[in-house]
Amino acid sequence: MQSVASERAWSRTRSNFIDYSSLAAFGGTPAVPSGRVVPWPAANETHLRSLAAVVKSGKYHRVNHPIVQEFEKKFSEWTGWWNVRAVATGTAAIHVALDQFKTRGRTVVAAALNWPGAVGPIHFCGLEPTFVDVSLEDTVLDQEAAKAALDSDASAILVTHLFGNPAFVPELRSQVRHFSGAAIIDDAAQSIALVRSIGPGLPLDSDAVIVSANGAKHLGAGELGLICTRDQELVEHVDRVSLTSSARNGERVFSPMTEGYNYRPNVFSAAVALGRIGELGDQLVCRRKNAAALWNKIMHLDGLRPLFRPSEPSNSFLNLPFRIDPEQMGLPQRPETRDFIVGLLKAEGVPVSVWLTKPVFEYLPHWRGRWSAADFPNTQRILDTMFHLTEIAPPNDEETMALYADAFEKIWAMLPYLGDRVADASRAR
Ligand SMILES: Cc1ncc(COP(=O)(O)O)c(C=O)c1O
Repeated sequence: MQSVASERAWSRTRSNFIDYSSLAAFGGTPAVPSGRVVPWPAANETHLRSLAAVVKSGKYHRVNHPIVQEFEKKFSEWTGWWNVRAVATGTAAIHVALDQFKTRGRTVVAAALNWPGAVGPIHFCGLEPTFVDVSLEDTVLDQEAAKAALDSDASAILVTHLFGNPAFVPELRSQVRHFSGAAIIDDAAQSIALVRSIGPGLPLDSDAVIVSANGAKHLGAGELGLICTRDQELVEHVDRVSLTSSARNGERVFSPMTEGYNYRPNVFSAAVALGRIGELGDQLVCRRKNAAALWNKIMHLDGLRPLFRPSEPSNSFLNLPFRIDPEQMGLPQRPETRDFIVGLLKAEGVPVSVWLTKPVFEYLPHWRGRWSAADFPNTQRILDTMFHLTEIAPPNDEETMALYADAFEKIWAMLPYLGDRVADASRAR
């Protein structure tokens, strides 16, 4: 976009008396100076010290490494409720949990707007997904559709909490508990605040809450996943799915029966994650403050909608998802309109990107083509119109949010005059 920019901006200026050369995509100065934004996981010296502790321990693996055990204990304390078992990744954690409950039925109810790695384990366990649509307000799975999909064949319901948005779905949980033998698995990979109580002394009604500690998530460590549960059998199942041998209790013991996935936790990742637990509460407070500061400045912009509930206090704000309403903006109702705006924002230095573009089943070879996107209208609408802004974590602060807001303002002021550019971009596809 940048290369064609200034010349075309000039000719456009002469013919229509509109000068949009102030936009960075057309040669102007970016609203967010280069180097101003600190990208997550906000690497710093304390992470080096955490890694050095593993090196000094002289042990780089093993599930009973004291650092891993300390991490499990401290994280359990942080949650205030759950027993915690670390495994290799969030995906592995979902697999282990589903594997434990797979004999309860043949199907798993899950949202069509989802992360491929989150639903992949349904297939690993020999189960079939029943996909349901999501809410246009906050991407949370449609509670009524999920209730209707819940039949006697359901072994589990997988509640994915995307972008930090909590999916409490209390009626769905209650229906599962009263009328179904299905397990409730909460995928909180993007929404870590859910492992803490959701009210005074009130934990989420769940059989397993899954956390990912990968570098893009709140624990910003390395590859690492956590199963948070009160189900002791599930805790024991971790080793059955994962380990060929265990040294959890001292002596090395070979498992008499194992699926052998070797989902062992990475000690280096656990060390970084352990070092971050102390700051996790403050991190969430900062993310919430930043999200509120930015949204307050840009909420008046025509056709820009939040894909989160601005007043929800337990939002983890992994990032800020938005969608646009091109009709309200007088722009073509096509995904290319969103792509064009994302291009303008990126040129201004705003860390935005387009997430997935298809319902989750289209990303998995064994399921592709079995359902139609038309059956999940909200999912498809979100995928055609959404983008998300990633860097809202500390040390980025309200001043950084003000710079992002300036970029949005600058672009939105010019959008009414950019309709033909958007149309050009659409035709070029
Ligand atoms: C919603 C969701 N679930 C599960 C996962 C899997 O976590 P991991 O990358 O630790 O395997 C991710 C990872 O991005 C995710 O976003």
